[in-house]
Amino acid sequence: MDEKQFYLDTISKMPSIDKQERVAEVFYEFLQLQHLYDSAIEIVKTQLNILDNEFSVKFQRNPIHNIESRLKSPQSIIGKLQKKGLPITTEAARRNLLDMAGIRVICHYIDDIYSIAELLRCHDDFVTIKTKDYIINPKPSGYRSYHMVINVPVYLSNCKQYAPVEIQIRTIAMDFWASLEHQLKYKANAQVSTELSAELKQCADTISDTDRRMQDIFFKLNNMD
Ligand code: GTP
Ligand code: MG
Repeated sequence: MDEKQFYLDTISKMPSIDKQERVAEVFYEFLQLQHLYDSAIEIVKTQLNILDNEFSVKFQRNPIHNIESRLKSPQSIIGKLQKKGLPITTEAARRNLLDMAGIRVICHYIDDIYSIAELLRCHDDFVTIKTKDYIINPKPSGYRSYHMVINVPVYLSNCKQYAPVEIQIRTIAMDFWASLEHQLKYKANAQVSTELSAELKQCADTISDTDRRMQDIFFKLNNMD
């Protein structure tokens, strides 16, 4: 279904008698929400860049290889609300969807992931809502990453509002696997066979082993073992 048809179908299911007014209201609320979440992303990215630069001043190296960010599209926000059986309102989205603002931090070494996570956790302004360590406890698929959701204060013209930001922190190697696995499963557009799933998991395990060996080499070369 194309995007326009998706919105038309969604609107046609709305119970409101005065649909035009409701659509205008939702549209305006949504623009405000987008601005809030976009600002929260910018705040966290700036903080991450400050930390990365501080490392390079202090230790002549950068823990962060790359930072990516995205705002969930209106279509996938509506899709997720429908899947969860929730009303299609910005209020329901704010309360229930913690991944509307997403940041992916790609680090060089496993240790860098924990350093970045700890610095975000210790930040006075950020409130950690949720953490999931899929490095210590990989997903059955073999997926590894450190996930956290933090509440970020955004200072607007007349008030301070908090927006949750989901942060996925992973190494270059974990990112390589996650990106390709996602692409392969998405492209397959169907159930991936048990054999191929097992092979993908084996690749994840091999990559994880390499990550640990690279970390050990780093420690040894820097006399940190
Ligand atoms: P949702 O965000 O609704 O999926 O639920 P959740 O809050 O329980 O999230 P979870 O901790 O499972 O992580 C969700 C995100 O992690 C996904 O949107 C993906 O970006 C990533 N992810 C989780 N599992 C996998 C996986 O097996 N493969 C890949 N490539 N990415 C994964
Ligand atoms: Mg998600």
